[in-house]
Amino acid sequence: MSTKIQLGTLYATNLPWPFAEDQQEFQYSVNVEPARVPKKTAAGEWGSNIVDLGGEEYVHIMEERRRILAADPTRVQILPGMMPACWDLLMYYLRDLAITHPDSMHLEEDGDVIRWRNDLLGTDQTFVVGDETSLPYDPMTFLGREIPDDLLLVKERGGQLHFDAGLVTFAAAWSVTFDAGMSFREIHAPVPRLTGEGITSRAEQFLMRLPADQVFRRVNWTLSASGSRKLDISLEELPEWGQDIPRLVADRDFGNLQLRVELEHFIRLPMSGAVTFSIRTYMASLEEIKTIPAWRDQLAQILVATPEDIATYKGINEYRAAAAAWLLS
Ligand code: HEM
Repeated sequence: MSTKIQLGTLYATNLPWPFAEDQQEFQYSVNVEPARVPKKTAAGEWGSNIVDLGGEEYVHIMEERRRILAADPTRVQILPGMMPACWDLLMYYLRDLAITHPDSMHLEEDGDVIRWRNDLLGTDQTFVVGDETSLPYDPMTFLGREIPDDLLLVKERGGQLHFDAGLVTFAAAWSVTFDAGMSFREIHAPVPRLTGEGITSRAEQFLMRLPADQVFRRVNWTLSASGSRKLDISLEELPEWGQDIPRLVADRDFGNLQLRVELEHFIRLPMSGAVTFSIRTYMASLEEIKTIPAWRDQLAQILVATPEDIATYKGINEYRAAAAAWLLS
């Protein structure tokens, strides 16, 4: 079902390298930090803006997003009562885009009447805030067709955060239809150490107290397969990609393994109070990483030093030592 994105450009220049400079091993933590702060890496820089259009890959990613949404509308889940938060989300992001990318993104506001233009995708849409009939899609889908990030909205219910709306086409081996409506604690329960070590409850407290005037971010990483940088490795597509890693390991084709990095932003939306959790997915092949000595050495070290339960959860335990050896060969 999924087509493959062939890209000539190196992703690595804007890759949010997920490890601190002197980091030797990996553990889960509440690794949040203020957003919109540029960070230099061994290959480039990332992090100035919430939305990274990222050059020519943007148009390819948006084609893939739109194709998946058309083929599988269940990738958008909006629980009852969440539509105001979806409007809030749309307006937050459109305003942010118009400020951060003034050359290509334009927003004109006249009371509740909005005109949005995105020159890179050719969008020119006038709509009325709160009036779904004035948009060709619901507000979350409209936004998801303009920006590369997966979009999740969490709201407090019964003293806990719940994942009550989402548009997710690039999930790393999970499913939005399965997880929508679940509590923050339920979602994270299968992740080793997270609940037992108090990380889940600290992260939930952090999000419940998130101020409206400050945006935070975190990075997460795993390995995935396919030299074609398949973005859609959601559970819905498992038959499409499930054999990719076993095949690649059997062929010892480690250069085509991808370091898959998620840059996640946490934003308290001003009107609805919902918290946005956006996920921008980046990839760099081990072949690319091998060309950057600092990255090559650090990734090899971390792959080997990651505790076994975390490596198993990430699905890398069986082949991480071989991948690390390939990096250093
Ligand atoms: C500071 C806040 C958060 C922390 C520290 C955190 C931590 C984590 C960690 C460590 C994982 C395992 C990922 C891996 O090993 O590759 C994970 C998975 C996940 N998280 Fe979070 N998370 C946070 C916020 C959120 C929020 C707001 C949502 C929104 C619903 C969310 C949804 C998910 C989902 C859907 C998964 C995948 C679960 C699966 O594999 O089935 N997380 N999270």
